[in-house]
Amino acid sequence: MSEPAREQWASRAGFVLATLGCAVGLGNIWRFAYVAGENGGAAFLVAYVACVVAIGLPAVLAEFALGGRARLDVVGAFSTGRAPRARRRAGAGAVLTAFLILAYYSVVAGWAYKYFAGYATGELRGLPRGEAAARFAAFLREPFEPTAWHFAFMASATAVVALGVARGIERASRILMPLLGAIVLLLAGYALSLPGAARGLAFLFAPDWSALARPGLYLAALGQAFFSLGVGMGVLITYASYVREGERLPRAAGMIAAGDTLFAVAAGIAIFPAVFAFGLDPAQGPALAFVTLPQVFALMPGGGWFATAFFFLLSAAALTSAVSLLEVVAAFGMRRLGLARRTAALLAGLAAFAAGVPAALGSGVWRDVALLGRGILEVMDYVTGSLLLPLGGIAVVVFVGWFVPRAAAVEASGLRSGALVRLWLLAVRYLAPAAIAVMLVALAGA
Ligand code: TRP
Repeated sequence: MSEPAREQWASRAGFVLATLGCAVGLGNIWRFAYVAGENGGAAFLVAYVACVVAIGLPAVLAEFALGGRARLDVVGAFSTGRAPRARRRAGAGAVLTAFLILAYYSVVAGWAYKYFAGYATGELRGLPRGEAAARFAAFLREPFEPTAWHFAFMASATAVVALGVARGIERASRILMPLLGAIVLLLAGYALSLPGAARGLAFLFAPDWSALARPGLYLAALGQAFFSLGVGMGVLITYASYVREGERLPRAAGMIAAGDTLFAVAAGIAIFPAVFAFGLDPAQGPALAFVTLPQVFALMPGGGWFATAFFFLLSAAALTSAVSLLEVVAAFGMRRLGLARRTAALLAGLAAFAAGVPAALGSGVWRDVALLGRGILEVMDYVTGSLLLPLGGIAVVVFVGWFVPRAAAVEASGLRSGALVRLWLLAVRYLAPAAIAVMLVALAGA
């Protein structure tokens, strides 16, 4: 045992489930659906799965190896070896990215809170199917409510981080993740029975191969893979630093990649048949999940209860993810500014709330403000997802592949089979850095 004072997960399953709790969130339901919808559906899915397997999974294992070896937070884990300036910048960039993602993530999670409350109190029950889109738009257009729900969500994430992560998050993830999985599967099953289901499935599973020629597709797929796995910002480094001796990291990484992807696909099956059954536009952007699912609930027997359960679990999944983001920012404040945990959590939460307000207003009163042809929330999502997370990912794989001595990296990864070691090294040293670099260059040229 290296440092007895260091916190640890209470069990092996706890580590996997907490990491899944970080991975599974709005990214799997809200973001996956809208990004896949904007990028042609099935072709996107092909590129997405390729990115998860070839780049995301090796990068997850790289973060695990780094965290398990250093048993320190992001900045500490990057603190040995050559090029100290570059490594410090990478650490600071990770904190900034976490902060920006958290800011608008909380806005969308606030929408989930609102829908949970709306279904729980009955306000949204019995909403006629045809009015779901108009009701959502009306909610967003109002300046106060979306901001208030954003505040409520951020306050709850701040409270969890202020209390300390370990037990709360681990226990919550253990109970909530399986429940959310079951609900999404049920919802997917029901969506399959809708009249337009076949077209929805074709959209999601029958690729229009010509779409694969667009470089923007790969960027979106890679960004989504990082976002959904929670890779590229040091969260997984931190979580892996709490593992117990003898944890099988490769197995955990595989379970997370598989579980996270299955979750997104199940959510896609729940959402896209409804999009086609109700004649909606799959490329309508961030509102997608909040407009289609209420229409499914309106048709389902007992839909009101189902909707309440669904939005409760979505809110909870978003909370476990947001906590991991806030923790990165708060930990930085504790270390660099010497703040107490509570103070750091409070300041980070308040600052992220303020940074998210424009995104909250951007879908309503400020909806005419557009940058790069997108709304404020979409721009924040696009810049962090397609640019900053891939940059963070490249930093991690290059560091583990080239700066950590090879034998130490392999040992820390826990990989035993020679073939897997070679594949992993190939991915972290060459494939992932090259693929990410090519995509970033393509982005610059786009
Ligand atoms: N993975 C989460 C989701 O899908 C979001 C998230 C949590 C995240 N921690 C992260 C994204 C770290 C990037 C990096 O909703």
